[in-house]
Amino acid sequence: MDNLDQLINEARAAFAAASDGAALEQAKARFLGKSGLVTEQLKALGRLAPGEKRERGAAVNRAKAAIEAALDARRERLREAALDAQLAAERLDVTLPGRGPAPGGLHPVSRTLERIERLFHSIGFAVADGPEIETDWHNFTALNVPPNHPARSMQDTFFLEGRDDILLRTHTSPVQIRAMLAHAERYRAHDVMPDLRIIAPGRVYRVDSDATHSPMFHQVEGLWVGERVSFADLKGVVADFLRRFFETEALQIRFRPSFFPFTEPSAEIDAAFMSGALEGRWLEVAGCGMVHPNVLRAGGMDAERYTGFAFGFGPDRLTMLRYGVGDLRLFFEGDLRFLGQFR
Ligand code: DAH
Repeated sequence: MDNLDQLINEARAAFAAASDGAALEQAKARFLGKSGLVTEQLKALGRLAPGEKRERGAAVNRAKAAIEAALDARRERLREAALDAQLAAERLDVTLPGRGPAPGGLHPVSRTLERIERLFHSIGFAVADGPEIETDWHNFTALNVPPNHPARSMQDTFFLEGRDDILLRTHTSPVQIRAMLAHAERYRAHDVMPDLRIIAPGRVYRVDSDATHSPMFHQVEGLWVGERVSFADLKGVVADFLRRFFETEALQIRFRPSFFPFTEPSAEIDAAFMSGALEGRWLEVAGCGMVHPNVLRAGGMDAERYTGFAFGFGPDRLTMLRYGVGDLRLFFEGDLRFLGQFR
């Protein structure tokens, strides 16, 4: 093998060993550059006699052409390889399902509120609401909780800076006042007034935070005012509601004497399942009572003629019981892995 064939072989091997464009350009310089091995061969021609020069010159040029061809071929291979790599990296699997909007769902507490609204609607209760930023008068005074009454400190809340007459409502009970005032106003000129039957679901606020208390939570207020509305009606409505809410007749319900400033008498409502994981455990689900005459009067009602009952449920608690959730905070942390289970 003469030295030109050897040169061609060396060049091919060097090009083959170059694994990217930069390495290939370096290898090219080594053979075809200004002081490359092929160029050296061309320069050496000058030292040959004219007869030898033609023959040798043709041989060197063939070798040069062969090396250039090898270079081009390698360049082409590297470009193809780079393109393949890019295509592989940017590969799209068009058979994968799209990333369109995922199906949403209602928050578990919203589901409970809707369910409560539906059940009460079926027995003639309308849905009422009121502002979450409430006046001190609606939240406390009109509900028979005068200034300095100790019940106020049991419902510690958030006030607005520089104002002590406006606060974040601590319960949905102020909606009782708003609903009664509106009802009384509507029927002021009439001799008879239809019964007022409302529930008021909504957010309420207290300075409270642990596994079973959140500074924001929900309540559903209920109110039925009319002539001859009695505690028996209260028991019937509440028992009917709870059995339908939990979809079971196997629910024991008891009314335990208690105190609220806005009702007299007052009671706490406990429920106990007669089967399942919570069997036999009494769980407090609501406060209730007969509306205090002072509250009826604050709502513009004739307290001699009308009576009423009221109750306040904790729908967050009802949601925990219905779905078997142990920590109230899970509802309000916004973790979609938790919330997504309620679709
Ligand atoms: N407002 C009470 C609370 O937040 C709950 C309540 C108790 C509401 C008795 C009522 C009621 O309407 O009659 O603790």
